[in-house]
Formats: sequence, structure tokens, C-alpha cells
Amino acid sequence: MIFESHAHYDDEAFDDDREALLSSLQESGIGTVVNVCASVDSLDDTVRLMEAYPFVYGAVGIHPDEVGDMDEQVLEKIRRLSRHPKAVAIGEIGLDYHWDTHSHDVQKKWFRAQMEIARQEEKPFIVHSRDAAEDTLNIAKELRAGDMSGGIIHCFSYPVEIAREYLNMGLYLGIGGVLTFPNARKLKEVAAYAPLEQIVLETDSPYLSPVPHRGKRNSSLNLPYIAKELANIKGLSYDQVVDVTCANAKKLFGL
Ligand code: NI
Repeated sequence: MIFESHAHYDDEAFDDDREALLSSLQESGIGTVVNVCASVDSLDDTVRLMEAYPFVYGAVGIHPDEVGDMDEQVLEKIRRLSRHPKAVAIGEIGLDYHWDTHSHDVQKKWFRAQMEIARQEEKPFIVHSRDAAEDTLNIAKELRAGDMSGGIIHCFSYPVEIAREYLNMGLYLGIGGVLTFPNARKLKEVAAYAPLEQIVLETDSPYLSPVPHRGKRNSSLNLPYIAKELANIKGLSYDQVVDVTCANAKKLFGL
């Protein structure tokens, strides 16, 4: 069974068919899903999803594009929800200098604060980092992220030299639909370089659909396209990729 390490089923893109879609995942070979929070609203929505579906777990945290809504109360709510028996990680948290929705100082402040919750609550973290390679790596090193309870650099988009740094810290790379894009040379190099034991599969649904569904709404049903591409790149069987990435995610999340 495939392990989906990163999806946003609370997103309004699923309002029309959320229940039918989620109910169909297991019969299509998707064994486990981690629903990842992005906004303040998605905290409660994620709790509802993990309480409604036995195979859905949750990551609680606020995305760098949404940290304008952050304050000490929200931070304490994240801490409290992280103790929910089905909350497996703090995320997604990090830095996004592509959209630059908030100042770098504000983004860094809340990234550090949420990483501290991950440390104190002994939870893995799920990091979003876009066009912010240097600052993300510096904060990860400053906080000794490698000594924490592990974590994922989600939708990994940097070159091999940066991947090496995170892999040396014992962290995982989250790889999704971008891997199937013909122009994704850099990510294909990273996928070839990284040990399969440090890769987890993800879709980031509803975003980033793989080829042949690029541009359409994504769902975990598209994970086999990503697993196939990764198997081709690494010269491994499809089953090996599915089994090892599933074991990786279960180990990291303690499932
Ligand atoms: Ni995401």
C-alpha cells in the first residue's frame, strides 16, 4: 500500500466530493494519508478528518504564506493539537520567498517558533521551503534539526548539494508530481542521488498533479505515477519503491 505523506484534503477544491474520494483511496492502494495543515482554519478541519477516517493522520502547523494569522494563541493551539493521538507531525512550516506574502523576518520568527514546538513535543516536522534555500538550511542547522525527532523537506526543489546537507542530518526528502515533469532535471538528479531509505512520496493535493494529469486537481490516486517515475530513475521495481517509502513514512511518524 502507498503512503501519502502530504495532502490537503481540507482544501475547498475537495468540497464537492471529499467523502467519496477519501472513501475510495484504500481500495485503490493508498493505505495511509497525512493531511497537512496550511491555514488557521485547516487546524480544526484536519482534526475532523483524522477523527472521521481511520487511515487519515494529521500534521498541525501554519504555512509561511499564512503566518499573518499567527499569534501566541494559535501557537498554543498547535501545541495542544500536536498531542492529539493521530497528530503525527508539525507542518507545514517554513519559508516561502517565492510568493513573499510576509516579510522574511516574520516568516523566520514563526518557522523557528513552530520548530521549537516540534522539538518540545518530540514530533517530526514537515518543512515547506521555496526560493529560500540558504535561510532554511541555516535555521535547520541553528536549531540542530538533525537531533530532533526527524522531519521531511517537502516538495524538495533544490539541487543535489542542498539535498546532501539534509540527508546528512538524517532527514527525508518529500518527492511528488514535479518528478514527472519533463523539465524537472534538477529534481530527477536529486531523486537519483538520494537513498530510497530517505525518500517519502507525496502529492501536495490538490496541487502539482503529475503527468499525465498535470494542471488538473491532484489527489492521492495519482501517487502511482510518481512511484513509477521514481522506480525508473533509480532502476528499482515499483513494489520496492512503494514498500520502502511506506516503511520510511511509518518509521518517521511512529505508525
Ligand atoms: Ni503542501
